[in-house]
Amino acid sequence: MQITNKKRMEHIDAQLLKTDIMYRFQYVCKFMGFNEEDIKVLHDAAPIIAPLVPVVVDTVYKKLHSFDITWKFFIERNEGFHGKLASSVDQLGEDDEAIHFRKNMLSKYLTKLVTAQYDAKFVKYLDLVAKIHTPAGGNKSINVEYIHVNALMGYVEDILLNAVCGLDCDMETKTKVIRAVNKLLWVQNDLFGRWYCETKDAPVLVKPTKSFTGIQVGVASAIATVVGALFATLL
Ligand code: HEM
Repeated sequence: MQITNKKRMEHIDAQLLKTDIMYRFQYVCKFMGFNEEDIKVLHDAAPIIAPLVPVVVDTVYKKLHSFDITWKFFIERNEGFHGKLASSVDQLGEDDEAIHFRKNMLSKYLTKLVTAQYDAKFVKYLDLVAKIHTPAGGNKSINVEYIHVNALMGYVEDILLNAVCGLDCDMETKTKVIRAVNKLLWVQNDLFGRWYCETKDAPVLVKPTKSFTGIQVGVASAIATVVGALFATLL
């Protein structure tokens, strides 16, 4: 019998990942193992998760209100909101009309996560939710930097999983729900991330300041090499 070491590799088209949202979604789901079974787990859990939504949404907005850098986004006029707007961050309260409007959008989103069919239309919606936060995705008035999106994503995951842990159901169900929610949020995070990669928000490399000449940098690196070699012989 001939033993072969050759592994089967599925080809993934790098270009399609950028241009075809469904192709990208399917690849990320496949990589993480987010599958039909997870979607069924989420659907089955909808009756126990849906009642948690109002508390989750209130907790999210309390958190966003606890920092000026995140609360400031809500004094901008958001898409579809025609009501009264507060004039400053200090004037804006969690019970204001503008915040109720946003809370309602977030509630709908969270409910959809556990009730929707995961078809092309829904994937487009998940992508829209991401792109609406940044000019790179077409928003003309709001630029929520990725640092806040990532922080909120981690926070939402923590409160959702904490709520699931506290549910009155068996350990096997809890584990399945926790794993499905975790994978789903990472899939959503990829859809956010793609609007932020390779943009001006990418980290800026620190260049050596002008006071360091090429010779000084060369001498420093030669010293580092000698010190490194000395340590290597001592160890
Ligand atoms: C966990 C990450 C986040 C999720 C899941 C999320 C969810 C949503 C949803 C569902 C909408 C409404 C989309 C629609 O119109 O259908 C929205 C819009 C909005 N979100 Fe987020 N969001 C996230 C992070 C953030 C953060 C960190 C901020 C600000 C600190 C923020 C501020 C806003 C604003 C200002 C809008 C309105 C945009 C506009 O209408 O122009 N979001 N978000």
